[in-house]
Amino acid sequence: MIAPGRAPGVRRASAPAALAMLLMLAALGGCTLNRQQSALEPGGPQAAQLEGLWWFAFWISAVVWVLTVAALLYATFHKRRPHEVPILEPTLSTERRSLRWTVAATGATIAILLAFLVVDLLTGRSLAALERREALTIRVTGYQWWWRVEYRDTVPSRVVVTANELHVPVGRPVMIEATSGDVIHSFWVPSLHGKRDLVPGLRNRLWIQADRPGIYRGECAEFCGHQHAKMAFVVVAESQEQFDRWYAGQLREATPPTDSLRARGLAVFEGKSCAMCHQIRGTLAGGHVAPDLTHLASRRTLAAGSLPNTRGHLAGWIVDPQSIKPGTRMPANNLEPDELHALLAYLEGLK
Ligand code: CUA
Repeated sequence: MIAPGRAPGVRRASAPAALAMLLMLAALGGCTLNRQQSALEPGGPQAAQLEGLWWFAFWISAVVWVLTVAALLYATFHKRRPHEVPILEPTLSTERRSLRWTVAATGATIAILLAFLVVDLLTGRSLAALERREALTIRVTGYQWWWRVEYRDTVPSRVVVTANELHVPVGRPVMIEATSGDVIHSFWVPSLHGKRDLVPGLRNRLWIQADRPGIYRGECAEFCGHQHAKMAFVVVAESQEQFDRWYAGQLREATPPTDSLRARGLAVFEGKSCAMCHQIRGTLAGGHVAPDLTHLASRRTLAAGSLPNTRGHLAGWIVDPQSIKPGTRMPANNLEPDELHALLAYLEGLK
């Protein structure tokens, strides 16, 4: 006879283990620990609608889970009273009772799924009805593994091209025109909206709007190869005034070198392989297969959100990008120390 209680070898989970498990669940359940990137901290109307839908699904699922676990525990632990005999052959009345329960549970499941469907459709409708006047259009093209960002304008000289960082004015609707230059990627800024796929040859649209200033992190949400996890970007939401200032800065050509060190750096950039892939407007570098670096120093990150934009990280990235992001198209650059020093000085001046 087996004594009641815990089976031998089975120990109660320790407090630290339970805490670790809880933290892991919290991280899985919507990245709530990262305040820059959380679907539960909406920064605009689209994300707020989706947050409502999320909480609706959460509470319904929580109630269903609690009821299911309660039923399981009851079935497992309730003790037969002494006069009850085990049911070996179901009688007509027990058959009827279990049929009633089955019908009730099926009915409740259908009702819950219908409620999900209706709330989902209503959310979709109110998302479609949001204000879209005076929208800003930004074309985002995904590449392995970075984002080309182009601010559209009917006047060609007003078009701005940058990479891995979007600036948007607070309170203004923004249309993201999403496409891809190679494989399928997905544009996702959890604090601003749901994800939208970037498909080669297609232009998908996504409306976002930030109602409070801040930096919202986004990332690729569709597995796209080796460095999918290092394909991030940031959306900087700022006042219209700050945005206009940023935009005017981005329209300008690169700042020409002001001293001999930076002039040497530009010569290194133009003379080595850098210029074959990257563009710096106002210089001989006119490559179009890698991020535009005209205003590199104004950006917050390097290598699509992989590194903070500091001198040390930039040096590491130029010299040995493969150890930071294995498989990236950026090759290692074998530069003499004085060439690297000059190149860094030049790139740091590209505000
Ligand atoms: Cu691009 Cu995943």
